[in-house]
Amino acid sequence: MLNMGGPASPAETGAFLERLFTDREIIQLGPLQSTLGPLLARRRTPRVQKQYESIGGSPIRRWTEAQGAGMVRLLDELSPLTAPHKFYIAFRYAAPLTEEALSAMRADGVERAVAFSQYPQFSCTTSGSSLNHLWRELKRLQLSDAFRWSVIDRWPTHPTFVAAVAHKVEQALLELDAAQRERAVILFSAHSLPMRVVARGDAYPQEVAASVAAVMARLRERGFARNAYLLGWQSQVGPLPWLTPQTGEALAGLGRQGHRHVVVVPIAFTTDHIETLFEIDQEYKHVADKAGITHFRRAAALNDEPLMLRALAEIAAQHLAAREPASPQYRLNCAGCVNAMCRSITNPAAPYQRLRDQAQSETP
Ligand code: FES
Repeated sequence: MLNMGGPASPAETGAFLERLFTDREIIQLGPLQSTLGPLLARRRTPRVQKQYESIGGSPIRRWTEAQGAGMVRLLDELSPLTAPHKFYIAFRYAAPLTEEALSAMRADGVERAVAFSQYPQFSCTTSGSSLNHLWRELKRLQLSDAFRWSVIDRWPTHPTFVAAVAHKVEQALLELDAAQRERAVILFSAHSLPMRVVARGDAYPQEVAASVAAVMARLRERGFARNAYLLGWQSQVGPLPWLTPQTGEALAGLGRQGHRHVVVVPIAFTTDHIETLFEIDQEYKHVADKAGITHFRRAAALNDEPLMLRALAEIAAQHLAAREPASPQYRLNCAGCVNAMCRSITNPAAPYQRLRDQAQSETP
């Protein structure tokens, strides 16, 4: 289970930020990255550490463990031929790191492995970074031949995932008075992305939009036919252009226009972490209050929601039954990709070739 992870205790914040700021696939600081990254991380640590203190540390590991346990329990039922299943967590920036997961898999005698991105929508800065790091670590640890791999790289519109999110939105809407409910604006919020990455051809914006459309269609089916919605982007860092509108700006704008009821829906996170518990619940709540939004709600994160556990198990079972190395989309590099490692699979469990390699081999 690949994800970014978070510092479980505030004291781990410095190491977490240092790994983040030295990851060239998410933050590019030029040739001085290995010096500048740690420097920037040290500068930001006190402020970010306070944020983690205010939420009691990141709960992402705890929730991922709950999701993993729920997933494999159901997966054993859904896919008895490939049972027993076991989950390992490989976080990109916090414990348990990829190295730890691989060592545990090795010790357990695992032979067949699925790299399951826990980001529903694919971005080269998140899922792509985790996968490339996995391939690098396998090489570094001389484990390139130890496991046969396939990849679950994205699942933005999986019906049970969509149903799980819609269920949480529905619960938040039901907290409002019936008379006000249909006037509530549903503000989906996803982690933002630098425009430089978008311009390269990253799939994330379109996949987030696909999730939003699918959740809204499900809500309409469930009888919430009159709510309007929009999509904002959160957690921008630095002065360069990122996707907009920022979620905070969207809230301020809605308040200015006279909207008083808003439900914010985290659409790209599957567990609570700092972006929900601090940024939405504290920072954006404050923005909403100032903007005159009197009824501000957040749809709960998926965490141990039974529909979410079922979604993960179904996605894994369908992947195993399909015997495909990855989704068809994984084979296609971003149009502007210059990273030789992107979209590779080390020791694939089924025949695998990137589309660009295929195209180049066929070019006379
Ligand atoms: Fe997207 Fe390489 S940057 S595939």
